[in-house]
Amino acid sequence: MIEIRENLYWVGVKDWELKKFHGDEFETENGSTYNSYLIKGSKMTVLVDTCWGPFKESYLADLERTVGLAHIDCLICQHTETDHSGAMVALAEKRPDLPIYCTAKAKQFLESQYHGEWNCITVKTGDKLDIGGYELLFLEAPMLHWPDTMFTYINGMSVLLSNDAFGQHYVTGGLYNDEADPCILWQEAMKYYANIVSPYARMVKPKIDQCISMGLAPEIICPSHGVIWRDNPMQIVEKYLAWSAAYKENQVAIIYDTMWHETKAMAEALGRGVTEAGMTAKVINAARTGETLVLTEAFRSAGILVGSPTVNNGITHAMAAVMEGLKHLKLTGKQGAAFGSYGWSGEGAGLLQAHLEAAGVTIAGGPFKQLHLPKQEELEQLEAFGRQFASDLQK
Ligand code: FEO
Repeated sequence: MIEIRENLYWVGVKDWELKKFHGDEFETENGSTYNSYLIKGSKMTVLVDTCWGPFKESYLADLERTVGLAHIDCLICQHTETDHSGAMVALAEKRPDLPIYCTAKAKQFLESQYHGEWNCITVKTGDKLDIGGYELLFLEAPMLHWPDTMFTYINGMSVLLSNDAFGQHYVTGGLYNDEADPCILWQEAMKYYANIVSPYARMVKPKIDQCISMGLAPEIICPSHGVIWRDNPMQIVEKYLAWSAAYKENQVAIIYDTMWHETKAMAEALGRGVTEAGMTAKVINAARTGETLVLTEAFRSAGILVGSPTVNNGITHAMAAVMEGLKHLKLTGKQGAAFGSYGWSGEGAGLLQAHLEAAGVTIAGGPFKQLHLPKQEELEQLEAFGRQFASDLQK
């Protein structure tokens, strides 16, 4: 139990060992945290979110030791995904009377995930709870990133508890953004946004606008993963506004897979052209790079070039996974092209182009099909396309 400010405490869990999240979907090289908070009002002591199930015993034992489960007056369940609700059932077994404040959708999700019924009190945007000295204001935040999600604002303390929004899968020895390595922090914040929030980017600005219109001015933002934003908390809000508005950097992601280095030679030639035109080229072998990172590089790029050899009339497994992931992100404002080597049937590049189009990427040329190993003049043609593609992106 660590004091954040008077009457607000972090009671969460640090998971230093976590390497995969959402099953095996999301790579978490820097671990994660399951942030749970305790608010002490003069009338009520309030627990906000719990932790992932594997940690429930130590989590509840810590709460018992530091607070006393009998002294908790209610739980606020901001989101029912199991990394935050995993200890809820065990808590409710010890405290079956415990009121659980949540959205109507969260009540449904608790019942369908855990097959039980609890003392749920459903709330909507604008509902308030007077806990004595502070007032908790609830804001539904559907699709940021589940339909059940809500935020909680502590009036009288100027603290926003934002659940998954503004989070990062990043565990540190401390609790706060000003104690973290800024390079890792921003990489993890972007990786988290790109892979988890980007599919619902259209919800971001309206929710932030609503918070502003309701007069919220957080001095601290407490997400449910990673560090707490206490130093200039609006910096992550500003990033979310930028990231949700067809974000792009002066970069082209060249994402490929290769069998006998023919498609690799094409990718590198494209990369040389992009670099000559003054853009950053990220040449990424998808089979040798975590997909979460690959998709983050696609997210931050203005251009996306994708390559695969033709394999059994299709594309490689690694590129199939990347193209499925790219569709999930629902990126806007990206341009791209497809390429790939072949030996006889040659469908790979065309299939990749169709995947790009399905992902909402505007096709700028190609598909570039290469019979086996490119000759010098064919490499020079790819370099020329890379130059032209990058030049056009910068206009
Ligand atoms: Fe951190 Fe959507 O759970």
